[in-house]
Amino acid sequence: MDTLSKLKSHGSWVGRWTFILAATGSAVGLGNIWGFPYKAGTNGGGAFVLIYLLCILAIGIPIMISEIIIGRRSGNSPINAMRLAARDSNTTSMWQLVGWSGIIAGILILSFYSVIAGICLNYIFLAAASGGVDSAEQFGNVTSSPINLLTWHTIFMLITCSVVSAGIHAGIGRVVKVLMPMLGILLIFMVINGILSGGFMQAFAFLFAPDFSEVDSNTFLSAMGQAFFSLSLGMGSIMAYGAYMPKEQKIISTSFTVASLDTLVAIFAGLAIFPIIFAFGLEPNSGPGLVFESLQTAFIEMDYGQIIGPIFFILLSIAALSSSISLLEPGVAFISEEGLLSRKNAAILISLVAWFLGIGTALSFNIWSDFNLTPGRNFLDSMDFIANQILLPLGGMFIAIFVGWFMDKNLIKEELGNVNPVLFGLWKFFVRFIAPLAVAVIFYNAIFG
Ligand code: TRP
Repeated sequence: MDTLSKLKSHGSWVGRWTFILAATGSAVGLGNIWGFPYKAGTNGGGAFVLIYLLCILAIGIPIMISEIIIGRRSGNSPINAMRLAARDSNTTSMWQLVGWSGIIAGILILSFYSVIAGICLNYIFLAAASGGVDSAEQFGNVTSSPINLLTWHTIFMLITCSVVSAGIHAGIGRVVKVLMPMLGILLIFMVINGILSGGFMQAFAFLFAPDFSEVDSNTFLSAMGQAFFSLSLGMGSIMAYGAYMPKEQKIISTSFTVASLDTLVAIFAGLAIFPIIFAFGLEPNSGPGLVFESLQTAFIEMDYGQIIGPIFFILLSIAALSSSISLLEPGVAFISEEGLLSRKNAAILISLVAWFLGIGTALSFNIWSDFNLTPGRNFLDSMDFIANQILLPLGGMFIAIFVGWFMDKNLIKEELGNVNPVLFGLWKFFVRFIAPLAVAVIFYNAIFG
């Protein structure tokens, strides 16, 4: 039997919408609802949004298309997908290192992602019960207790692990079909709430009126990094999901759909959060604490805040769960397709490793706050730095270089099917030149800048 079919053991998405829901679920996460608004807030609003959109178009979509091509061709985990694509293009098997780096990045990201998602779960209950408290003090109480952070981290990791152990069809596929519509409804509710709050016009102007006086080279770096993280690129999440995509589904148009939905959610999150921030006279540029401190202040003060607050944090938790499962999947797929462990045990093993690393992140909020794992960065910041600024950009750059320069043209054509030659030419140009160069710039600046 051909290695391709021997390894293929995961099953596939049922129906055309499942890939779109799963990939959008992966993409839409803390990065959109927690990260994007605060980054737009600290980088001058509309100008950041515009640069972010450019990055999605010029780097994100071309790389997403490339990841899906590689994944769907083999139907395997990113390590084997890269190995087989390289073998069939008669080039070196070293390309599988991209898959390995992705799995490591996935574990590192999952370790801190789960701690932050745990805080979101915790806030569902806090927001329901926090009449008359001070939000800064509340955030201090939440994060100063290692036991509290670890409890919620453990709960979130258990949920993630149980979804992935149930498999592609019965686990991830089924869960995203329920979570994504819920996410859509809750988000629309929050945007309507924003429209009614009285701060909507100000929020709209803040997000869409570009003020270029705030733009510097860091704005570009931050927007590019955010585009990568938000589209789940560079570590194999989308490659792994692409492996389960039905052959007749169109890769290019599907990528545009996923990227558009991801961008729409990020902008809607801004339109849900900033009107409240402005209506309550709070600062839009308060940074990572924007939703846990500033927004929570507004929830505490507003009418029905004890209902609207929990709805917002449920939304955030749902978005986080549909992303965390995609961080776990590539490693689990690899271990189980190699026959090393069952899917369930593979999910337990990788979750345990990520859970254990997550302890470092939980402690970096309190007893380890002065401990630097890498120079000038505490545990959480170090994980974030190694994964987001080194492994993801490198992974994305190599994926673009592989598909643009090394992968057999016929293999690519087979996956893309009948595609408009102009669109194909444009994609090829971006994948060969623009995306690798742009990523090289972020990478260079992150290390030496
Ligand atoms: N995209 C998700 C978010 O915005 C996080 C995520 C899931 C991710 N899978 C990924 C980020 C793979 C980078 C790589 O929150």
